[in-house]
Amino acid sequence: MISKQEFARRRRTLMELMTDNSIAVITGAAERIRNRDTHYPYRQDSDFYYLTGFSEPEAVLVLIPGREQGQFLLFCRERNPEREIWDGYRAGPEGACSEYGADDAFPIDDIDDILPGLLEGREKVYYAMGRDPSFDRHLMEWINSIRSRSRAGASPPGELVDLDHFLHELRLFKSAGEQKIMRAAASISARAHCRAMQVCRPGMYEYQLQAEIEHEFAMAGARFPAYNSIVGGGANGCILHYVENSAKLTSGDLVLIDAGCELEHYASDITRTFPVNGRFSAEQKAIYDVVLQAQLEAIEACKPGNHWNEPHQTTVRVITDGLVELGILDGERNELVETGAYRDFYMHRAGHWLGMDVHDVGDYKVHDEWRLLESGMALTVEPGIYIARDNTRVDERWRGIGIRIEDDILLSGSGAVVLSADAPKTTSDIETLMAGK
Ligand code: GLY
Ligand code: MN
Ligand code: MN
Repeated sequence: MISKQEFARRRRTLMELMTDNSIAVITGAAERIRNRDTHYPYRQDSDFYYLTGFSEPEAVLVLIPGREQGQFLLFCRERNPEREIWDGYRAGPEGACSEYGADDAFPIDDIDDILPGLLEGREKVYYAMGRDPSFDRHLMEWINSIRSRSRAGASPPGELVDLDHFLHELRLFKSAGEQKIMRAAASISARAHCRAMQVCRPGMYEYQLQAEIEHEFAMAGARFPAYNSIVGGGANGCILHYVENSAKLTSGDLVLIDAGCELEHYASDITRTFPVNGRFSAEQKAIYDVVLQAQLEAIEACKPGNHWNEPHQTTVRVITDGLVELGILDGERNELVETGAYRDFYMHRAGHWLGMDVHDVGDYKVHDEWRLLESGMALTVEPGIYIARDNTRVDERWRGIGIRIEDDILLSGSGAVVLSADAPKTTSDIETLMAGK
């Protein structure tokens, strides 16, 4: 669990990056209606949660560094015994102070009256413009209302500054507390992938494997997947974000599962591909081993000092070589890499930052150059080869094979730590697990 001290440290670090006489306004996530009076499961906005640990909807965080009467202000729902009988517990402004450490807290319904006064006289407003159009409008109205009183001496903020850049740079580097949760999340997800391998039988439906995976997540306390689980049998494995998960699994096919749990607001993201009947065919194994080789070499390239794109370049090189060797691509490696011939079979990048969001925040380039990898960053490595069922330029025996192997990596001083190592990924380890040996 992230401690109260850590949430306080994050706010302090952000406030140290802000200039004198400035204010930051950060909105929580809105509830989303699924139909009529039913909502999608609520998930707090990651930026908001990162700074508060507060997981109720209808909340706004305000940080005012150096303000004597208090720097950490929270607007939230008031306690309401009747609503709480229907919808559950609310902290209320009192709880925002006593449980979450706010210096001051106000009912969200009073924000119109209170926030303009807090904005007035500040030089800069740090805010993530464009994310919540209705709040953007409110903010402009509050600023305009101050402006309209400028002849009476009111002084509106002169500058809106993008908050994301500062906050996301902090989120990119995972603290010891965050690393611990991410390890736990990856290990739950790895167990879930093992479970799917163990129970898989021809004739099952993709959604049944999804249920097995998500059962394992939930039973371990990870109540939600970090993203919609992908379970693609046979050629469905060639659809990168296949989430229908409705087809029957056939003996002789592979099944690709890309699924990861979210634990305490941190994501894991694992892909494994295995044979529905427990045995890889010669063609499946040949392609699989190319993807695995690419993944292992890319993980080797994940080390502090290398730049972000090095693992990707490694996967492109190994996959191109492998496809040439198998006769699927024809030509000279450097030329095939240059012309992007591999993209017919490998059309995505080797990975992304991982954290509170599955595709986590943080810049990939600095001053237009790929940024250097540093200790404390977390990322995925997930090369794949997908040979479309209707790709007639490829010998028939390869068609309909879709394979991706994805692990979660934490960068430490000495190199890559594979957080998801508990899920087997060599063909022989997978076959052994599936055979129940
Ligand atoms: N599951 C989404 C991804 O692997 O990026
Ligand atoms: Mn994934
Ligand atoms: Mn991923």
